[in-house]
Amino acid sequence: MQRLFNKQVVLGVSGGIAAYKSAELVRRLRDAGAEVRVVMTQAAREFITPLTLQALSGHPVHGDLLDPAAEAAMGHIELARWADMVLIAPATADLMARLAQGRGDDLLTTLVLATDAPVAIAPAMNQAMWRDQATQANLATLMSRDVRVFGPAAGQQACGDVGPGRMLEPADIAARAAECFERGVLTGRHVLINAGPTREAIDPVRYISNHSSGKMGFALATAAAEAGARVTLIAGPVNLPTPLRVQRVDVTSAEEMLGACLAALPADIFIASAAIADYRPARCAETKLKKKSGSEEGMTLELVRNPDILATLANHPQRPWSVGFAAETNDVTAYAKDKLVRKNLDLIIANDVSSPSIGFNSDDNAVTLIDRSLQQHALPQASKQKLARQIITFIAQRIDIPSH
Ligand code: PMT
Repeated sequence: MQRLFNKQVVLGVSGGIAAYKSAELVRRLRDAGAEVRVVMTQAAREFITPLTLQALSGHPVHGDLLDPAAEAAMGHIELARWADMVLIAPATADLMARLAQGRGDDLLTTLVLATDAPVAIAPAMNQAMWRDQATQANLATLMSRDVRVFGPAAGQQACGDVGPGRMLEPADIAARAAECFERGVLTGRHVLINAGPTREAIDPVRYISNHSSGKMGFALATAAAEAGARVTLIAGPVNLPTPLRVQRVDVTSAEEMLGACLAALPADIFIASAAIADYRPARCAETKLKKKSGSEEGMTLELVRNPDILATLANHPQRPWSVGFAAETNDVTAYAKDKLVRKNLDLIIANDVSSPSIGFNSDDNAVTLIDRSLQQHALPQASKQKLARQIITFIAQRIDIPSH
C-alpha cells in the first residue's frame, strides 16, 4: 500500500448499488497516502451524495462536463493530466459499454479518453448482466486497451441473485490499485530537507543573510518525492514554487529553522542543504537603528552563535540518517571531512563554491560525496536537478534503517 503514497487518483463513481462502498474506498486510498479527486456520473448521485464523497476526499466532487465554474477550477483536461491513475469503482455495465465505445458524453468518459494515466475498473452488476455476451465483449475490448480490471467477486448480490458481479471490497481495490505503481527507491521513507538562507534580524528593516537561492534543496526535495518519499521541506526565505507532493514549512531565522526541523522528526533521512547564518545579532533593535548625526564613526554589531541544526539532529535521540553540505572556497575536501566527523554525519557533500558558475544561486553545481569510511565519489558539474537525482539514488543505496 506504500506505493499509493503521494499518488494522485481520480476515483470515478458510476451509478450502481455498490456506489455506497466508494465512500470507504476514498478513505482507504487516502489512508494509504493518495490524494483523491472524485468524479461522479449523474446516475451515481442517485446512490450516494456528492457531499459525502466531498467530505471524505477533502475536495469538491466533479460531475458536470459543461459546468463553466467547475471547468474554470479544474476542467476535464486538467483532471486527466493531474491523475496518476483513473480508478472507476463501481463500473456498471453501462459505463463499461460507453468506455468500450470510446464515448465522451459525460465528464468521466471524457476524462478516460483524455488521460495518459493507467485506467482501472472495478465492475459491479447483476450476475446475468456480467455474463451477458455484450458485457463480456466490452470487457475484452477494454482489456485489449490495457484497462486493468479488478474483480468482480462472486457471491450473494443485492438483487438476491448469486454469482459473479459483486464489486470487490474497498480494501482489495485499494491494494490492487497500489500494485499498479512501481516502488520508488525511497517509498515509505520520510525525508526531511532544509534549504535556502536564513535571515538574522538586526532591526525591523535590516538583516544578515547570504546568497543561497534554495535551488539545490528544492531540487533535492523534488527528487526525493519522485523517488516515493514523504518529503518535508523547511525553507528559508526564497522565491521558489513548492515542488509537487512536498510538505513545505517556511521559516526566516536559524532558530526558527531548528524548531521546524525538530518538529518534523521522526525522519529517516535529514539533508541539510540550507546555508544557515553561523551568527546572529545579540539583540534585534525594536526600532530602526539611526546613524549618529554628524559622526563619521562606524558601528559595532555584537553577534552570538546560532545553533548548529545539522549537529543537533545528527546527535538527537531520534537521529535520522544525516547528510550535510560543506560549502567551501578552499581545501574543500579536507574541511568537508572535518565536518563529517565533528558533526557525526553519515555523508557529507563537499561543495566548492569558489566559482560563480556553481554553488550559491546558480543553476548548476558540482560536488563530491564523502561517506563515513571517507570514500569519495565525485559528481561532475551538472544541473542541480540532475545532481539531486544522483544524490538521492546514492543515499537510497546506502541507507540501512527501518522506515518511520
Ligand atoms: O541554495 P543554492 O543557491 O542552490 O546553493 C546551494 C548551496 C551552495 C547553499 C548548498 O549546496 C550548500 O552547500 N549548502 C550548505 C551551505 C553551508 O552553510 O555550508 P557550511 O559548510 O557552512 O555548513 C556545513 C553544514 O552544516 C551544512 O549542511 C549546513 O546546512 C549545516 N549548518 C551550518 C551552520 C549551522 N548553524 N547549522 C547547520 O546546520
